[in-house]
Amino acid sequence: MTTRTLLPAILQAVMKGQPVAYGDRYYPRWHLAPVTGLMNDPNGFIHFQGRYHLFYQWNPLGCAHQHKCWGHWSSADLTHWRHEPLALMPDEEYDRSGCYSGSAVDDNGRLTLCYTGNVKFDDGSRTAWQCLAVQNADGGFDKLGPVMPLPAGYTGHVRDPKVWRHGEHWYMVLGAQDLALQGKVLLLRSDNLWNWENLGEIAGSTLGGFDEAGYMWECPDLFMLDGKAVLICCPQGVTREEKRYLNTYPSAYLCGDLDYDKPEFRHGPLVELDAGFEFYAPQTTLTDDGRRLLIGWMGVPDGEEMLQPTVAQGWIHQMTCPRELTLRDGLLCQQPVRELAALRGEEQRLEGIAATLPSLAAESLELMLEAQGEVTLDFADTLRLEWTRDGLRLARRSLACGEWMHRYWQGDVRRLHILCDRSSVEIFINDGEGVMSSRYFPATDATLGFEGDAQLRLRYWSLRACMVE
Ligand code: FRU
Repeated sequence: MTTRTLLPAILQAVMKGQPVAYGDRYYPRWHLAPVTGLMNDPNGFIHFQGRYHLFYQWNPLGCAHQHKCWGHWSSADLTHWRHEPLALMPDEEYDRSGCYSGSAVDDNGRLTLCYTGNVKFDDGSRTAWQCLAVQNADGGFDKLGPVMPLPAGYTGHVRDPKVWRHGEHWYMVLGAQDLALQGKVLLLRSDNLWNWENLGEIAGSTLGGFDEAGYMWECPDLFMLDGKAVLICCPQGVTREEKRYLNTYPSAYLCGDLDYDKPEFRHGPLVELDAGFEFYAPQTTLTDDGRRLLIGWMGVPDGEEMLQPTVAQGWIHQMTCPRELTLRDGLLCQQPVRELAALRGEEQRLEGIAATLPSLAAESLELMLEAQGEVTLDFADTLRLEWTRDGLRLARRSLACGEWMHRYWQGDVRRLHILCDRSSVEIFINDGEGVMSSRYFPATDATLGFEGDAQLRLRYWSLRACMVE
């Protein structure tokens, strides 16, 4: 579509769709979600000149994975967000099948986007361009066009540039599929964001000690944390195990040491980033005060997503809460950012045998929980969390066939920190050693009940709603 046809259609979709989405009882009270249509990956997450900017993959025209634009929100404090002008639309030849994921950098005071222009052909094949756009005085973005075609030796599945500054150069990691259909992450270098040199593969299937480990690695993000290099990626096609890698596609990380010049990334094992039903394509940024923050998409493509009931209300998916990352003994830990405490009402406490405790309203709730013994948390008869000596088991019925499905976190669970919204929970285990993020769609208002004979200790807060302005 051209700008002339796309823009009126987007405007109409938003005018019609936003009141419907906002009226939906599953629409989040305090998480970011699309005002209409489909939202997927967070893009261009950056702390720029004192404000956070979060862009997102967005189809304003419906709930299908089509017409991908970049929506744009900004915030000074990670709790009050405002809508910014639509950043990118797929209205050029080189991005006509979608302005796919990418990142934002501060190029000498200019907020600059690096994204993938995706082009699909009638015969089913595709190509991809890595493109630039720069912010203009009106807060929108002017496209500068493609700066890189497909690198030699890869299929049309090359996308999701994450760019950062290191020393005298710009660096980029790029998700790719090689001609043997193995998923890879490429490292590239540039002096000016325009001319890129492909330094080589730094991780992927059949590399770094892996056998076959997926046919496409998308959405890479590489950063330093506590002296270590951490590479986040979404390796599609990793083998399912009994209790891990159970989602259609996983989101995972590698931790190690990066030699930029060789290039060589010596890393440990692949570790799943989130063990819940919905989590994908996260992106990180560094704050002015030196914290590494992450936001993920609380969705997964190609599974049961289109069966979610919000599709009937014209919208689908939400982001996770912003999380702060730390490294503990090589383990990447995630905790809700401290700014979220500003949403809390008055602290309340409960203590006693689980089954004797009253159930809580869980529409907008934060709780911290310690237990002696085994306990089950029941979210409105729709989502159940069993906490036993072996770890956690999260149960939810398939939207397709109604059968119970499970996700697991194995290990000694000492305490839980849980954030609830109207149709989501984020369960942080042992101060962030593990996380389970999931959507759920209760038939009645969200509640949280306790079962079992464990002795429980709770601190909890109801959370203030925060709409994007
Ligand atoms: C991940 C992803 C990216 C791509 C984008 C398209 O969810 O497939 O690889 O850039 O979504 O919306």
